[in-house]
Amino acid sequence: MQKRDFIRTVTGLGLSSTAVFTSMKKLVTQHESTLPTELATDEDFWLKIRRGYKLKPDYINLENGYYCIIPQYTLDKFKAKVNEVNFHGSWYMRNHRFDDNITIRKKLASVVGCSHEEVVLPRNTTESIDTVIAGYDWKSGDEAVMANQDYGSMLDMFELQAKRYGLVQKRIDVPLHPKSDEEIVEIYANAITAKTRLMMVSHMINITGQILPIKKIADMAHSKNVDVLVDGAHCIGHFKFDIPALAADYYASSLHKWLSTPLGAGLLYVKKDKIKNLWQFFGDMGYADDDIRKLNHTGTPPVHTDLAVMDAIDFYNMVGPERKEARMRYLQNYWSAKVRNEPNIIVNTPVDPSRSCGIANVGIRNMKPADLAKALLEKHKIFTVAIDGVGVHGCRISPNIYTTTQELDKFVLALKDLAKVS
Ligand SMILES: Cc1ncc(COP(=O)(O)O)c(C=O)c1O
Repeated sequence: MQKRDFIRTVTGLGLSSTAVFTSMKKLVTQHESTLPTELATDEDFWLKIRRGYKLKPDYINLENGYYCIIPQYTLDKFKAKVNEVNFHGSWYMRNHRFDDNITIRKKLASVVGCSHEEVVLPRNTTESIDTVIAGYDWKSGDEAVMANQDYGSMLDMFELQAKRYGLVQKRIDVPLHPKSDEEIVEIYANAITAKTRLMMVSHMINITGQILPIKKIADMAHSKNVDVLVDGAHCIGHFKFDIPALAADYYASSLHKWLSTPLGAGLLYVKKDKIKNLWQFFGDMGYADDDIRKLNHTGTPPVHTDLAVMDAIDFYNMVGPERKEARMRYLQNYWSAKVRNEPNIIVNTPVDPSRSCGIANVGIRNMKPADLAKALLEKHKIFTVAIDGVGVHGCRISPNIYTTTQELDKFVLALKDLAKVS
């Protein structure tokens, strides 16, 4: 297809988002033989992908880490599912809901390379992680290991177990710029004692975007009989991996982040042989002890959200997991490489490409992160989020596949401008 034809097709008023999806699919097919790392630098290609989104013109959105807006294709499919479920009402719930749930779990499991019998769809990472933490039969004096850089409410859940059952918490600090995987593994290993039962590790630390060497940490923990729970809130749909290859016992994620599903979709993976010993959070005695569905009873759920997860996966697969990962990493490196050596600018994310992907954190010396976020928004119309704690002082920068390098050029200029006056 000629460039002009494509643009006319996707921008044509009244064209359905499904037709736009089909055009994009053709475009991607034309680039099938191009290496993802090469395609990552092709602005023309990504501009066409951008057209699949309806973007707010008010600011440059570099805060996708909270919730990634969904492409029009997925949004329209989701709306159609709301209509359909409403049309069928109880008929759908009684006759199709449970079979559809298996189909959805199978499709989601295929994204992360595991069996659907090890996966359910809670509403988010919080529900998934809390299900695991509260599912242990904690005895006073039992120990759990976690990091100060982990997500606050997950740490709070451990705190609750400490108050209620006498769990002992061992918190470690993850270095901002580790020299090797072994340095990180050793920090976690040093926190383990004979009483340690569970270790929680972030796959990607949300405030800096640092990716941790989960497999090495899990192998070390297992050699000491410690279970491993991974907080992968930011990982599914962001970069490609198979959960079983990480060797963790439990994995949790929010699909409304990088898989770009509608709000309220998460993933909980529990390794088959770990299911039976986990107590369920909500009462449900209808399943066998080793059936993961016992962990996912939340009453009558918004099934249309789960149904639209399949459409989000179609969009993700259409773009291609390797292509998305390469573009995300390219975008992060594109801006961070331009400011890493600037006086007064501090990048709080490792330079090694295997230790990060699309998210990074940047601060300005002598400038409060909240002031930086405010100046970026008010002076430069760039939306980010301030992070100020546990050794990280800066703004988290999370572009998405619709972000252009032109937008990032504006961001780099803004940072340099603010660093001059700080
Ligand atoms: C690392 C991490 N864990 C857990 C969560 C909680 O996610 P949710 O609110 O979707 O449950 C977040 C949210 O940003 C996060 O960044």
